[in-house]
Amino acid sequence: MADDLQHDLLIVGGGGAGLRAVIAAADAYPDLAVAMLSKGYPIRSHTLSAEGGPAAVIKENDSLEDHIHDTISGADWLADQDAVEAFVREAPGEMVQLEHWGCPWSREEDGSVAVRPFGGMRIRRTWYAADKTGFHMLHALFQTSLKHTQVTRYDEWFATRLLVEDGRCQGVAAVELRTGVMRVVRAKAVILCTGGGGRVFPFTTNAAIKTGDGMAMAYRAGVALKDMEFVQYHPTGLPGTGILITEAARGEGGILVNTEGRRYLQDYNLGEPLDVSDPSHPQLRTMELGPRDKLSQAFMKEQEAGRVFEGEYGTYTHLDVRHLGERLINERIPFVRELAKDYAGIDPVHAPIPVRPVVHYMMGGIDTDMEGATSLPGLYAAGECACVSINGANRLGSNSLTELLVFGRRAGHAAAVWAQEHPEFDQASLRAQGADEQERIASSYLRPREGGERIAAIRRELNEAMEDGAGVYRDGARLQAATETIAELRGRASHLALDDHSHSFNTELTAALELESLLDVGEAVAHSALARTESRGSHQRTDHPERDDENFLRHSLAYRADGAPRIEYSDVTITSWPPAERTYGS
Ligand code: FUM
Repeated sequence: MADDLQHDLLIVGGGGAGLRAVIAAADAYPDLAVAMLSKGYPIRSHTLSAEGGPAAVIKENDSLEDHIHDTISGADWLADQDAVEAFVREAPGEMVQLEHWGCPWSREEDGSVAVRPFGGMRIRRTWYAADKTGFHMLHALFQTSLKHTQVTRYDEWFATRLLVEDGRCQGVAAVELRTGVMRVVRAKAVILCTGGGGRVFPFTTNAAIKTGDGMAMAYRAGVALKDMEFVQYHPTGLPGTGILITEAARGEGGILVNTEGRRYLQDYNLGEPLDVSDPSHPQLRTMELGPRDKLSQAFMKEQEAGRVFEGEYGTYTHLDVRHLGERLINERIPFVRELAKDYAGIDPVHAPIPVRPVVHYMMGGIDTDMEGATSLPGLYAAGECACVSINGANRLGSNSLTELLVFGRRAGHAAAVWAQEHPEFDQASLRAQGADEQERIASSYLRPREGGERIAAIRRELNEAMEDGAGVYRDGARLQAATETIAELRGRASHLALDDHSHSFNTELTAALELESLLDVGEAVAHSALARTESRGSHQRTDHPERDDENFLRHSLAYRADGAPRIEYSDVTITSWPPAERTYGS
């Protein structure tokens, strides 16, 4: 093994949360040796593909209380209210900070920051940079991180194991993909910012890199994955590719229409049709601007009733933006036009866009407190891979970009403080763990094996099991079947046969390591969903259709075990907003 590397603080993951954590740590402690390790390049992280924008209170007609309430009710009361309060209070400062770092927020005619309506929000509060917001945010963060010369980057390194000694996390073992060499990267504190694991499903907006690697590493190290049963379907993905058609298209006034030409959402307790382009309208979260869980469920009902279109890539309804006109489409949602032309072959100025629900986001993740700290001392997490929790059972669109800023900064700062206070390493033991990991990977994947299982087959079967068992609607029998399939696939995955035994940029090895992560994430999702015998937010059980606060106003905690994971529960923090029915459009 090559020489070990050593830093004070290591951030794993190069997207928005990771970069925000890097900047926070480096700003607070200019002498701190900070490193960022990422499976890809930071500016190719999935944050790049965010389109709509981040939510934060800025306008006079808005209030922190309204943002807090929208978030909590959107979450079907499963969010921790102290975390939501901190999140909403700190959000505006993060937006202003990002502007100072170069993020070009779109403006109103009078030069003030422009905000747009978004799903589940009663008031316009989503900041944006046309519909390429993630691109601009990520670049502003990246260029700011470059100013900090104490930051070392390990781009295209795949972290496979957390190194734990003396009951604390002290670094990672990671494969340098260019050489295939296993390296030990010691750190006094580690922050996981590795994003979600949407690729465990077959049809997703998530980039190919989103295989839940950080979640899986924490799970294997004994940290709980919290609320994993809550998987968000975004109502408008392009059939075939799953490419996101941003909610901003509906925020600007786009409507959803079935085969009968009807705005079908008016039939699902989401209010009456309204003109969102009228800024004085008091009630925004209605119809197409209802929350994502309810819109995706409405599509499934329309499908059941036979009122959806059939196409080459399955069923869909129409998202119609033609009435907005070419000028507004070009100014506010140019990327929607570009994507629809390139990937659906239609120009939304002249024709409706085919759309269907698509897996978009995991509300669950690594169990953390409000500073990003996990139950494993020295280990922190932020962004989609973490569950603080502000999103509960259903995240509102545009809260996640804000979340990665607020909690990326909090985790960066808290982990930097921890690193200052815990200077020691157990070097020999960490090196031995790295050597073990090197041997595990070599013997599992890099030595010739007769026969053996194929990665693609297992991954396809896993995807199918997840979609069949843990889709928009679930029931006990199908979830049970999913858990059994995953257990069987786990067994088969321990006998993989790879064709490529080379060391440099071995993409087949990367796929094998990603499959390990996907199996862990899929297992946690399916078992947590099986255990939650109620319906709440994105978790809809046809065999348990009611929300059950008495038994399930609780976070699930999935712990890895031999065989099925152990599922425990913890309390939800309620401060000032007692559980109530979710109502929209009234
Ligand atoms: O529709 C969108 O632009 C997605 C935004 C989000 O997930 O927050």
